[in-house]
Amino acid sequence: MSTEFSQAITIGSDLTVNRLGYGAMQLTGLKVWGEYPDREGGIELLKAVLEIGYNYIDTADTYGPFTNEQLIHDALHPYPEGLVIVSKGGLVRGGPEYEDRDAVGNRIYLRQAAFTSARRLGVDAIDLYYLHTPEAKDVPFEQQIETLAELKAEGVIKHIGLSNISAEQLGAAQRITEIDIVTAHYNIYVRDNAPLLRAAIEAGIPFSPWHPAALPKDDSVARFLNVLEPIAQKHEVSVPQLALSWQLHRYDKMLPIPGTTSIEHARGNFAALTVRLADDEVAAITNLVPEQ
Ligand SMILES: NC(=O)c1ccc[n+]([C@@H]2O[C@H](COP(=O)([O-])OP(=O)(O)OC[C@H]3O[C@@H](n4cnc5c(N)ncnc54)[C@H](OP(=O)(O)O)[C@@H]3O)[C@@H](O)[C@H]2O)c1
Repeated sequence: MSTEFSQAITIGSDLTVNRLGYGAMQLTGLKVWGEYPDREGGIELLKAVLEIGYNYIDTADTYGPFTNEQLIHDALHPYPEGLVIVSKGGLVRGGPEYEDRDAVGNRIYLRQAAFTSARRLGVDAIDLYYLHTPEAKDVPFEQQIETLAELKAEGVIKHIGLSNISAEQLGAAQRITEIDIVTAHYNIYVRDNAPLLRAAIEAGIPFSPWHPAALPKDDSVARFLNVLEPIAQKHEVSVPQLALSWQLHRYDKMLPIPGTTSIEHARGNFAALTVRLADDEVAAITNLVPEQ
C-alpha cells in the first residue's frame, strides 16, 4: 500500500484544508450563465457540503458571472472558522454562449475583479485568488502577476494561485512572487497538464485538478472501465470515487475539486479521502494514458 497519505493539505504556510474541495461552478444557470434555477436547493446543497466536511470551495467571478459567488455568500455567510473560499479573476463572458468569452489582464481590470469578488463574498480579504487564465493579451503575463502581488501586498488577497498555465509560466511567475497553488484540467484520460503537475511537485506546491473524476463520454470509455471497474469493485467504491482516490494517491498535495449538484454525490466524492489504493492499482490507472 502507499504509505504517504494525508487527508489534509496546507496551502502557503497557513491555509489547512481537507484534500477534497467542492467546485461550485455547477450552481449557475445553463452554460454557467445566470442564476442557479433552484436557489433554495443550491443553498441547501452548499450548507450540506460543509456538513459533509468540505472546507475548500472553488468559485470564480465569471461563474454566472457573479451569481455563483453571491449564492455562496447568501448560503454560508458569516463563514465558519476554517472555511476557505477561493475565487478567480481575468475571464469575461460576452453573453450566454459558453464559447463567447475572453480574457482581460490589465491592472485596473484585475484590481476591480478582486475587490468586487471580495465584496460579493463579504470578506475583507480573499483567502486565495487565482488568475483564471494566462490568455489575456492586453498586457504581458508578468504584469498580471505583478498586479496579483500588489493585491496581496495590500491585503485584498492572501494567497496567489494560477489557473490553466504552463509549467514555463509557473516558473516565470515564481520569479516575480510566491505562487501557492496551481489548478488545471487533469484526470484519468486528460493528461495534457502532466508537465504542470510535475512542476508543481518539484516546487512543492499543491495542484488542484478540475474535472478531476471525468472519463470519456464516447466508446473509448470501455478501455478505461476495463481497468477501473475491477479495482472499484475490490474496494467497494464507485468509479468516480476511485477516480478521485487515484488523484489523491498521485501526489500528497493533490486537491481535486469535483463539482456536483447532488448532496449524495458530494458525500460520495468526499468519501474518496478514506480509500487506500495499492501502488500497483495506482500505476495501472496512471498507465492508461501516457504522460509527456
Ligand atoms: N480553473 C478553471 O478553468 C476551471 C474550469 C472548469 C471547472 N473548474 C472548477 O472545477 C470544478 C469541477 O468542474 P465541474 O463543475 O465541471 O464538475 P466535474 O467535477 O467535472 O463534474 C461535474 C459532473 O459530474 C457529475 N458528478 C459529480 N460527482 C458525481 C458522482 N459521484 N457520481 C456521478 N456523477 C457525478 C455531476 O453531475 P451531478 O450534478 O448530477 O452530480 C456533473 O454532471 C468546477 O465546479 C469549478 O469550480 C475550474
